[in-house]
Amino acid sequence: MLVSGGSRGIGRAIVEQLAIQGAHVVFTYHRQHETAQALVRTIREQGMICHAKQCDLNAPDESRAMVEAIEEEFGEIYALVNNAGITQDKSFPTMSETDWLSVISTNLNGTALLTQAVLQKMMFRKEGRIIMMSSVGGLRASSGQSNYSSTKAALIGLTRTLSHEMARFNILVNAVAPGYIATDMVLSMPESSRSAIPKQVPLRRMGAVEEVAAPVLFLLSDSASYITGHCMVVDGGLSA
Ligand SMILES: NC(=O)c1ccc[n+]([C@@H]2O[C@H](COP(=O)([O-])OP(=O)(O)OC[C@H]3O[C@@H](n4cnc5c(N)ncnc54)[C@H](OP(=O)(O)O)[C@@H]3O)[C@@H](O)[C@H]2O)c1
Repeated sequence: MLVSGGSRGIGRAIVEQLAIQGAHVVFTYHRQHETAQALVRTIREQGMICHAKQCDLNAPDESRAMVEAIEEEFGEIYALVNNAGITQDKSFPTMSETDWLSVISTNLNGTALLTQAVLQKMMFRKEGRIIMMSSVGGLRASSGQSNYSSTKAALIGLTRTLSHEMARFNILVNAVAPGYIATDMVLSMPESSRSAIPKQVPLRRMGAVEEVAAPVLFLLSDSASYITGHCMVVDGGLSA
C-alpha cells in the first residue's frame, strides 16, 4: 500500500489504520523528515511494517523513480491513496500566479502523474485500488479556495474517468471528500474562521482524522469490491 502525504493529519491516520490491519505500508512526505521518521519508529515499535519515502509531488520524475524504487525494494503496490495536498488560500482576484500554480501543480498534476506511474504497474497485474483525497471544497463553494476547490473538483472528474478506463484491468478508483477535519491544514486557519466551523456543520463539530481513515480503509477492503467511480462524502452533513 502506498499513501502520499502519510506523515501527518489524515494521511497519518490512514497509515496507522492500514498498519494495524497488517498491511505493508509505504508512505511519502515532503519536508518534515523528522515527523515522518518518528511515525515509522512508532509503528515499527508496535511490531508492524512501515517505510517512509521523501518525495515532492511537484516533481513527476521523482514520483516515477520512487514508484520503481518502492516496487524493487518492498514489492508490488496493491493500492495507492493519493492523500497529499496543500492550500494557498486567497480571494481569487488577488491570488498570485504562484499561489494558483503551486496548488494546481501539487494537488492535481502531482496526484495525476503519481497515479499514472502506479497504474502502469497495476495494469500488468490486472489488480489494484486507487483512492483520491478530494474535498467538499470540490463539491460546493469554498470562498478563498478557488485554486484548491478547482483541484478537488478535478480529482472527482479524474476518479470517474479512470474508473471506466481501468475497470477492464480490475482496478477500482474511488474518491473521498472530507469536510472540516482537525488537522494542521484546518488548525492553521485564522481563529475567527475556525471558531465558525461547528455552527456550519449539522453534526456541530469538526471531524477526526480517524473518521476519514475508516471510509478509506473500507474502500480498500474486499467489502468494496463492486464500488468504483464513487465519491464518498465524509463531512458531518455539511454539503447535504
Ligand atoms: N483537513 C481537512 O479539513 C481536509 C478537508 C478536506 C480535504 N482534505 C484533504 O485531505 C488531504 C490531507 O489533508 P491534511 O489536512 O491531513 O493535510 P496536512 O496535515 O497538511 O498534511 C499534508 C501531507 O502532505 C504532504 N505534502 C505536502 N506537500 C507535498 C508535496 N509537494 N509533495 C508530497 N507531499 C506533500 C505533507 O508532507 P510534509 O509534512 O513533509 O510537508 C503531509 O504529509 C489533503 O489532500 C487535503 O486537501 C483535508
